[in-house]
Amino acid sequence: MARHLITSAIPYINGIKHLGNLVGSQLPADLYARYLRGRGHEVLFLCATDEHGTPAELAAKKAGKPVDQYCAEMWAVQDKLSRGFRLSFDHFGRSSSAQNHALTQHFAGKLHEAGLIEEVTEKQVYSNADGRFLPDRYIEGTCPECGYDKARGDQCENCTKQLDPTDLIEPRSAISGSTDLEVRETTHLYLRQSRMRDRLSDWIESKRDWPILTTSIARKWLHDGDGLQDRGITRDLDWGIPVKRGDHDWPGMEGKVFYVWFDAPIEYIACAGEWVEAGKGDDWERWWRTDKGADDVRYTQFMGKDNVPFHTLSFPATILGSGEPWKLVDYIKSFNYLNYDGGQFSTSQGRGVFMDQALDILPADYWRWWLLSHAPESSDSEFTWENFQASVNKDLSDVLGNFVSRVTKFCRSKFGEVVPEAGTAGPDEAALIEALTTRIRAYEQHMEAIEVRKSAAELRAIWVAGNEYLQEAAPWATFKTDPDRAAMQIRVALNLARVYAVLSRPFIPDASATLLDALQTGDDSWPDDVTAALDTLTPGHAFAVPENLFVKITDENVEEWQTRFSGQRD
Ligand code: MF3
Ligand code: ZN
Repeated sequence: MARHLITSAIPYINGIKHLGNLVGSQLPADLYARYLRGRGHEVLFLCATDEHGTPAELAAKKAGKPVDQYCAEMWAVQDKLSRGFRLSFDHFGRSSSAQNHALTQHFAGKLHEAGLIEEVTEKQVYSNADGRFLPDRYIEGTCPECGYDKARGDQCENCTKQLDPTDLIEPRSAISGSTDLEVRETTHLYLRQSRMRDRLSDWIESKRDWPILTTSIARKWLHDGDGLQDRGITRDLDWGIPVKRGDHDWPGMEGKVFYVWFDAPIEYIACAGEWVEAGKGDDWERWWRTDKGADDVRYTQFMGKDNVPFHTLSFPATILGSGEPWKLVDYIKSFNYLNYDGGQFSTSQGRGVFMDQALDILPADYWRWWLLSHAPESSDSEFTWENFQASVNKDLSDVLGNFVSRVTKFCRSKFGEVVPEAGTAGPDEAALIEALTTRIRAYEQHMEAIEVRKSAAELRAIWVAGNEYLQEAAPWATFKTDPDRAAMQIRVALNLARVYAVLSRPFIPDASATLLDALQTGDDSWPDDVTAALDTLTPGHAFAVPENLFVKITDENVEEWQTRFSGQRD
């Protein structure tokens, strides 16, 4: 058995995430974590909220709350929704934790010692009314090119021209609208990651098995244009991790904080410390320090494609640059985007279905199944209500749900609520076992390769195989002529239902639990040997007919939800 460290990109604190965010990182990470646990591996699955930066500050301001209080509240909201979706994090941490403060400052100190930090003095716009420096995109004004009066300091949305804030005519603060702006000098720390270009390039090229999406984005950033640029890792903000080198103050950096993208990935490590502090583990270093046992760990990261440069270049630059034996990622699984009904999911525009809304309508399993079986792996994919209805009704209700319901109900009416005893398996059962063995081995391979859609398709095929067996065996007909044979067929089918509960758990954990409960078994062993697996529930074993595992989505539902989710959320 191996040890697996799994992290999902940590979601921004401001606001509730939409289904596109969910399927791009947290949900597939959960699928993989659950699968590996099911196979008996030791897993540490971590996620957290990404709490720093201007968007968090502004969202707090809008909510009329101090930013630390806002973050604490939003963490609780996201934590509850994660549980609602059955995301099985071993810990859901916070990038604002004491552990992350200390580690981030530690890394900055090490990078400084290694000569990889440069102090750069630059000019930046300061707003007297707001009492702060303004990031480029929080400065608005008239575009010198096209005259659009809401151009941002980084770009004009109207004519797409890339801008510097100083290019804008009549610039004003996007926060307060104030025009009382001035250009001030400020000093920032830059990480000289360009010096690590060769090391990073060699490392990425050594990852032969990475998905193309991951390596192609990494290569583009390494080699295109100016290549890997040094990047500023500090900001003039109040909210964030104070700039220090280890425990020591950094002369000239008073009042500044680290840039959110510098501290956020470090939270992957800090989160393991939070996990220990929460009493859930006793040694985080054996997961993260290669000198303390983490050499044996396989580390897999999950993220949307926009996050790839930070995980293939920036964060590895921090780790490698520190010169310390931290664990580097072994495999990066990245995703394209999920679109919503002909457009994009959008947090700022409130477009699409958000995690809280989804759970208000239907249980987690329905969403998990659709999202994972349509994960945007090789290209972007699209959520439509019709497609959602079709998948849920066909796959979950007609195939899996129907199998379970037919078998358990038929058994109850003819043999009672116990596994029947009579009859011996014949060639049909041997053929079933052979077909299932092939498919289950394929399912394992797809899961191990984190081929999410292929795994879902294989699981569906495994459910279909059971239905086909039942259709051909037709115990309801057999019962009239050969009741012993019908008993054996039902015994096989009841055992198959247990196998389904085990195999399906990574996708639909609640239905899986309901099914194991109904079968009154705690035996969730993996079907390594299908013949043995179909002999697990022995004659005389009692069970109960489960409630309908899945309820169908009606046309009326679809119509109602389509309307309800066509506009903006409030
Ligand atoms: N909050 C970022 C996003 O949602 C992801 C941060 S991932 C980390 O896009 F590695 F930086 F932590
Ligand atoms: Zn313009």
